[in-house]
Order: sequence, then C-alpha cells, then structure tokens
Amino acid sequence: MLQAGEWAYSETLKEHFMNPKNILQGEDTDAFDGVGMEGNLQCGDQMMVVIMVDKQKELITDCQWKTYGCASAIASTSVLSEMVKGMTLDQAFHVSPKEVAVALGGLPDHKIHCSVLGDKALRAAINNYYTRNGQTDKVKQEQAKVICQCMSITDHDIEEAVLEGARTYFELQERTKLGTVCGQCKDEAEVLLDKFKHIHFGV
Ligand code: FES
Repeated sequence: MLQAGEWAYSETLKEHFMNPKNILQGEDTDAFDGVGMEGNLQCGDQMMVVIMVDKQKELITDCQWKTYGCASAIASTSVLSEMVKGMTLDQAFHVSPKEVAVALGGLPDHKIHCSVLGDKALRAAINNYYTRNGQTDKVKQEQAKVICQCMSITDHDIEEAVLEGARTYFELQERTKLGTVCGQCKDEAEVLLDKFKHIHFGV
C-alpha cells in the first residue's frame, strides 16, 4: 500500500516525464507529412502530434509532439512517439492506450485516459497524412462515430474504456473525460456503455 506522498509511477514513466523524447520545437509544422490535434484547451490538455513518413513504405520515420497535458499525458506521448518510429501507418494507427501504459511500466487506472490524448492525436496525424496524399478511402475505413463532441470521444473510445474496466458512467468519464464539458452526450454514452458491457462481458 502506498503511503501519502509516495510516488505511484514506474521508473520508466518518471524518466519519460523528466526527460520527454521527441518534443516538437517551435510552431512550424510545414515540414511534416501529417499533423494531428486533439483535446480541449478549456480543459488544459491539448495535444499536437506530427509525423514524417517514408511514402514508399508507408513507415513513420519521425514522430514529434507537444502538449499542455499532465505528467501522465507527457510520459505517455513521449513513449508513444518512440514506439511508433519504424511502424507502418496502419500499425501505428492501432496502438492502444493499454499498450502505451504497458510500455510505461504501468499507469494508475485513473490516469489511463491521459494516454488516450497522444494516441488520438497520432491517429489524427495519420488521417491527416492520408488526406493530404489523396488516400481518403483509408481515413474513412478507420472513422468512428464521435459521441462526445466537446472531448472528441468516439464509440471506439467508449468500447476501449469498457474493455479496460469501466463499468459505470462515472468510470467511463474518469477514463475518457467524456461528458465533462456540456454533458449533452451522457444519454448516448450510457446506451453504448451498456451495449459494450453486454457484448464483451454478458452483463
Ligand atoms: S458533448 Fe460531451 S461534454 Fe459536450
């Protein structure tokens, strides 16, 4: 049991927070092949991810980012930016917050949602690359339905949160930040929460 004041994070997470890798310097993103933004400045957790792509092989050769997010968002995106270098666009698109948390040596449950921010900004950057290169068919294949407009939370994010342990609306909110601005998405989110609990856990 952790005592008051004891640091609950792994050494890997602390290293990525203290010395984050691949931080985007400056504001100019013109040189990059894909740019993705996620989050909401009202919540103080906006994230930008930019990628360079080997167009022949569709491999990510560089991934940089900047955020106004918390320590866990910083560490998660730092490790994510290392993980995806050398991956194909398709592989990188499917890296889950859970894989990022594992690479960090674990993340407290209530911080899992922080790792979603970098993951989503990366997917937005990959979609941006596809759009810029006339491959809009690939963007559509991966599109999910946005349930929470304020926080850009999709039905896929809700399903992922359920798979990671969310069972109540409150737990869903904790993991995704869904419904934390205007609250208009609550009813639809609760229907999906029940649906995914039933599909995956039979409850
Ligand atoms: S639509 Fe979800 S909080 Fe506004």
